[in-house]
Amino acid sequence: GADVEVDISGIQPGQMIRVKWRSKPVWIVRRTPELLASLSAHEDQLRDPNSEVEQQPTFAQNQYRSLKEEYLVLVGICTHLGCSPQHLIDGDFAQYAEGIAEGFFCPCHGSKFDMAGRVFSGVPAPSNLVVPPYQYVDDNTIIIG
Ligand code: FES
Repeated sequence: GADVEVDISGIQPGQMIRVKWRSKPVWIVRRTPELLASLSAHEDQLRDPNSEVEQQPTFAQNQYRSLKEEYLVLVGICTHLGCSPQHLIDGDFAQYAEGIAEGFFCPCHGSKFDMAGRVFSGVPAPSNLVVPPYQYVDDNTIIIG
């Protein structure tokens, strides 16, 4: 079928993997406790911090936009005109969002998203990155679709 099963057991803390689902890129990021703790610090800079616009299944309409806090699952397509944002780490995102070390930056027109896929204010992208439907089969396996 169109569903994709992904083994997440090898993803190290801080690492992101890319898979394809219905010919779309899907990112899975294993977020560290430090990163999760940092997400609440910049909510005043976000357009839709509480994910009130329909961009995720109901199960992901929470602070971390995920089923389990640790694992972020996102469709890696900019919500402006569909470019592929870059994952910037190790402080490289701070040139676009002061004081924020890691995030997603779209090179096409400069949209910025945090590590929950939430869009920053003042950029062309109108909404948060999409969270696809997914579920855990067991602790090591996600099915997207
Ligand atoms: Fe990403 Fe325009 S397509 S900012």
